[in-house]
Amino acid sequence: MHLFLLGAGHVGLVTAVGFARLGHRVTVADLDAARIAGLANGQPPVFEPGLAEALIAGLANGSLAFTTELDPPADARFSFVCVSTPTGPDGPLSTSNVEAAVARLLSTAGPDHVVVVRSTLPLDGPGRLAAVVSATGRPDRPAIVTNPEFMREGQALEDFDRPNRVVTGWLEPLDQAAAQAVIELYAPLGAPSLVADARSVALIKLGSNVFLGAKISFANEMARVADATGADIEAVIAGIGLDSRIGTAFLRPGPGIGGSCLPEQAIAIALETAALDVEAPLLSSVHRSNAVHQREIVSRLETLLGGAGSLVGRRIAVLGLAFKADTDDVRESPALALAANLRAAGADIVTHDPRAERRARLADPALAVAPTALEAMRDADAVVVATEWAEYHALDWAAIAAAMRGRLVYDTRGIVDVDAARQAGFRVERLGRPGVDQPGAGIPAVASSSASDA
Ligand code: UDX
Repeated sequence: MHLFLLGAGHVGLVTAVGFARLGHRVTVADLDAARIAGLANGQPPVFEPGLAEALIAGLANGSLAFTTELDPPADARFSFVCVSTPTGPDGPLSTSNVEAAVARLLSTAGPDHVVVVRSTLPLDGPGRLAAVVSATGRPDRPAIVTNPEFMREGQALEDFDRPNRVVTGWLEPLDQAAAQAVIELYAPLGAPSLVADARSVALIKLGSNVFLGAKISFANEMARVADATGADIEAVIAGIGLDSRIGTAFLRPGPGIGGSCLPEQAIAIALETAALDVEAPLLSSVHRSNAVHQREIVSRLETLLGGAGSLVGRRIAVLGLAFKADTDDVRESPALALAANLRAAGADIVTHDPRAERRARLADPALAVAPTALEAMRDADAVVVATEWAEYHALDWAAIAAAMRGRLVYDTRGIVDVDAARQAGFRVERLGRPGVDQPGAGIPAVASSSASDA
């Protein structure tokens, strides 16, 4: 089948490649002519493992095509809208791009066409789409279906190929058959599916992301409690997770929640519940928890370096800028925020990232970025690991000891090879693991001996 897709961003490209690999022909359109030209040459505008290879394969076998023509080809029955919903004057998830794309498709596509909105919608998004529909006043309009994505950056192709679920939403009862038809497109993937009204589907998407954000925030706050009591957060999460009602997924503490989705949706739910006059203190607190956690990471480093004012004039290497490993995305990256906050506190910051340097420099032109991790650490008083890149697990600590001035390693991701770093003379502090890393040292009152591996 020939599918049309509007919006050659991360979600659009992964969706296009995913459907092309399922045997469909996909034409991808975008307003950005430079982006389309790059894609037509096999160059994706974002890094995603496997994307460039799949793009080149799709171009070679003719299953993928790129265009700046925004109207669907005559033989395409489905048009996927994957345009961005950035923060705008109408809220944290502005629907103006989506509304414009849907309005255009409604005016040009035939009555058998199905417009599939894959962009993330705010809770009132379906209502806004319904207003677009009534504005066109077209009785034989194409069907409109929502189909949110649940793909993680860095694993997006895998998440497309093996989704936990496929969800579609119908805008009006007359769109129900089309919502089922969209489910059929994903049928070869064998995932559980759900069809519901579009308002429920918008809440499924928002609720999923807020719940994931709440889980990570829970782990982050618990890690700081562990720091205060001398407990080991890994043992704590493992112990809590043995309860089959809880589990351990998405409970890895780190420097904070980043990315284009979770932080934005944590803000969106707070604003949207307030606008709806729904008291939702739990849902609304995820964003605040994340902000507090990021501040506390800076305070912790200050404490480790000797207390108030100790960051001033210190040279600190921040390893990692991407919001997580295996992506070059720095949107809402806690690593980038950490670098900026340390700089604001008077520290002299040098950073490194194996992939995200270009996008990090665009986001923060004042950022000092070294070409290698070792160069970032040269003459540094301390090093903070902020992104869990595999190469930071395999650092040559003997070489680093020769290059660095200080001996403090603060690992917010729990990935440093602690034995190797210690052997090279470093003091390694890991978020939430004081009882493991410094047995007996600086642990107040109760130490957890059974959780200690030291
Ligand atoms: C997220 C959702 O997971 C995905 O379903 C949705 O479609 C898009 O948003 P993504 O933004 O790629 O995906 O990132 P995700 O893997 O969810 O991580 C978000 C942030 O939380 C990252 O900064 C990550 O490092 C952090 N995180 C995640 C943790 O700190 N601990 C965890 O256990 C998991």
